[in-house]
Amino acid sequence: MLGGGLIKDSVSSLIGTYGTGKTTFAISFIFEGLLKGETCVFISLDERAEMIMESIRRRGYDIDTYLNKTFFLIKLDPTDFTLAINSIKNDIPALIRETKASRVVIDPISLFEGLLPDEATRRLEMFRFVEMMRDENCTLVLTSETDTQIPYASKYGLVEYLVDCVVLLRYVRASDLSGTHLAVEVVKMRRSQHSREIKPYEIQPDDVIVYSEASVF
Ligand SMILES: Nc1ncnc2c1ncn2[C@@H]1O[C@H](COP(=O)(O)OP(=O)(O)OP(=O)(O)O)[C@@H](O)[C@H]1O
Ligand SMILES: [Mg+2]
Repeated sequence: MLGGGLIKDSVSSLIGTYGTGKTTFAISFIFEGLLKGETCVFISLDERAEMIMESIRRRGYDIDTYLNKTFFLIKLDPTDFTLAINSIKNDIPALIRETKASRVVIDPISLFEGLLPDEATRRLEMFRFVEMMRDENCTLVLTSETDTQIPYASKYGLVEYLVDCVVLLRYVRASDLSGTHLAVEVVKMRRSQHSREIKPYEIQPDDVIVYSEASVF
């Protein structure tokens, strides 16, 4: 669906409402990097570090052998405004440079955006942040919660314009109420011929499976 995968050193956004698997997809992206010998950084703004570690372990990944060697997990407290802003703007770029990390996840960026006091500041700071991250030689994935009214827009309607690639995760409810299905769509991918189809996927205990041959409707 991505026409070969995320483009190296690009910035992507994975947008979805609660429970659609943003963290799960992000973990897959990180672990695949670790298996290839890359250094990876996971910055969590919502789930605690131990919970993230436990979810990774439960998928059968031997994450402990990578921890603090090629895998760095940071939990930021989004309620501490000054600390979170300083970390995102200064400490994290420094860590990426020091460790030469090539895959970085911020999960979810919308909690950081929510710290910024108004729309104008948010636009400016997010633009600066994404531009700064483009200088770091890493492939960056920013997850984002959705808007409460529009299930296909990010919470602040901003990241989709700033990033190179937008992947949308959402629920599709059957009209007969027989159940809820998950669907994934590549909405935007600069410089790439990607799929425009909406495909079903499932979150299983050990992996996410996208049924690229199946149809949602
Ligand atoms: N071990 C598992 N086996 C099967 N399904 C699982 C497992 N772990 C999680 N899930 C499914 O994945 C969903 C949560 O996925 P995940 O935490 O990645 O979502 P999220 O989009 O990050 O949610 P949030 O916005 O709340 O952080 C659960 O609601 C559940 O349906
Ligand atoms: Mg999550």
